[in-house]
Amino acid sequence: MKKNLVWDIPVRLFHWLLVLSLFGQWLTAEVLDNFMDIHFYIGYFTLGLIIFRLLWGFFGTRYAKFSSFIAGPKAIISYLQSLSSKQKVFTTGHNPLGGLLLPAVLILVGLQAISGLFTSDEIVSAGPYYDSANGAIQNWMQWLHHNVFDVLMGLVVIHLLAIAWYRWALKHDLITPMLTGQKVVEASKGIAHSKLVSALILAITVGFFVYWLVAINPPPVAEYYY
Ligand code: HEM
Ligand code: HEM
Repeated sequence: MKKNLVWDIPVRLFHWLLVLSLFGQWLTAEVLDNFMDIHFYIGYFTLGLIIFRLLWGFFGTRYAKFSSFIAGPKAIISYLQSLSSKQKVFTTGHNPLGGLLLPAVLILVGLQAISGLFTSDEIVSAGPYYDSANGAIQNWMQWLHHNVFDVLMGLVVIHLLAIAWYRWALKHDLITPMLTGQKVVEASKGIAHSKLVSALILAITVGFFVYWLVAINPPPVAEYYY
């Protein structure tokens, strides 16, 4: 068995750009003052990342597709049982339990980004759809924007603990493949290439959509001074 490509470039770029974006979002909202403009721009970019990965889950390469890793409770339980046996079976793509992470992250980050569009800091900055929502929706969105991030961070902690457990308890390194794309597997289990042309077309389309959504479609944003 030799090293073969398993994680395509778009999946890896999505992952590490998402990590950087979320860090940037936290920094510009919770640590730095007067960085709301940058917070908005990173938020739009993050929204694009999420939409891209959602579509890549249907049009991407073998292990990027939802169909390769979304499993039912039976598969998850038998996978967990196999880990406590001597002959551990490691999956080439996401394992049945780990496969739940991507949908959960897409939903949570999606909610965070969408609620941001309707949120105001009640000082000077408001998301592009803040004015078009009534008070009840604004309150809801504000609530979501303040709370979903904490749930997401809880999930990230579980994610990192699971990776550490794989590394030290199961002696299985998941991080290097997420960086290089390659795993030691049979040649038939590898993917031939990253489908970069499709990824580029998809990324440009998503970019135009997000631009339309946040810059063209919304009503003009008023400035708020209290
Ligand atoms: C904000 C923090 C993070 C979030 C939201 C996050 C989210 C995700 C998501 C959604 C996936 C699935 C990727 C896909 O199929 O497209 C994933 C996979 C993965 N992430 Fe993270 N991640 C975070 C931080 C990290 C960090 C810091 C590391 C490294 C120490 C890491 C290592 C990995 C690895 C190794 C996988 C592949 C797991 C597997 O083989 O099934 N992640 N992560
Ligand atoms: C996924 C992307 C995003 C993440 C992870 C994120 C994260 C955060 C976090 C952690 C806070 C601090 C909340 C708190 O103090 O409890 C915050 C505040 C805020 N965010 Fe975002 N955000 C995102 C996208 C957006 C977008 C797209 C907009 C608007 C276009 C936006 C607008 C705001 C505003 C106005 C605040 C200040 C709220 C206040 O002071 O009450 N965010 N964001």
